[in-house]
Amino acid sequence: MAYLSPVLNVMIAAARKAGRRLIRDFGEVENLQVSLKGPADFVSVADQRTESILVAELQRARSGYPILTEETGLIDGPDKSHRFIIDPLDGTTNFLHGIPHFAISIALERDGQLVSGVIYNPVIDELFTAEKGHGAYVNDKRMRVAVRKQLSASVSATGIPFLGRGDEAGHQRFLSELHTVMNVSAGVRRFGSAALDLAWVAAGRFDAYWERGLAPWDLAAGILMVREAGGVTTDLDGRDRMLSSGEILAANENLHPQLLKLLKATGK
Ligand code: IPD
Ligand code: CA
Ligand code: CA
Repeated sequence: MAYLSPVLNVMIAAARKAGRRLIRDFGEVENLQVSLKGPADFVSVADQRTESILVAELQRARSGYPILTEETGLIDGPDKSHRFIIDPLDGTTNFLHGIPHFAISIALERDGQLVSGVIYNPVIDELFTAEKGHGAYVNDKRMRVAVRKQLSASVSATGIPFLGRGDEAGHQRFLSELHTVMNVSAGVRRFGSAALDLAWVAAGRFDAYWERGLAPWDLAAGILMVREAGGVTTDLDGRDRMLSSGEILAANENLHPQLLKLLKATGK
């Protein structure tokens, strides 16, 4: 059984409630009003509605905690030792295209450390949870990262930059990194939800995941999940500064150093 602290229970209840709404909206995706936030960066009514549900639920139980959200930014609160970090809909492009692969992500920091995380895929009702020092779970089953040691047998996930995400040099750098990894491994996947990519590394489905240009709400809950499942997470310079650099490499302790070395050498 997963260890559930009181605040993790609050986060799970919020994610499940928001998930029910998201599923209804997904069913009506064609009717959703969509506005353009920037090139290829859609924000839908569903994002905002889901975020409102999450914020209301979290504030009802923990009224003083600040909340960093994708759609609103920082919602301040007097309790400066805590901060929720939420992405109401990770995988918006999938959602808007009717592709059933997206998630709600909620993390909690205490004194600057990630202590609780929830990633919820409402389509298949798959709930990933992690609590610092108490492990990571998928629907009550303990998660462990994969044990593969050989890159040649590994399957990695990544994120492909797109119009409006990164400049030409960034796109070229991604292509070089992809070339490097595809040449040494059994496969590379692009599924379109950073939060689920990380949860799936924790679950041992992906051996590794790397991406650049991410935001704290894409990463926070998933980083804790991978760590609590026994994996290693750093940015692409090997530092523990993922939330500020927006880069991540997550893998087991055997593959992480191998991939870090290869990715660092790419493009140099
Ligand atoms: C996106 C997804 C995607 C990643 C993008 C993110 P959003 O988040 O996590 O997998 O490649 O960079 O922005 O916009 O769907 O919340
Ligand atoms: Ca996101
Ligand atoms: Ca989002």
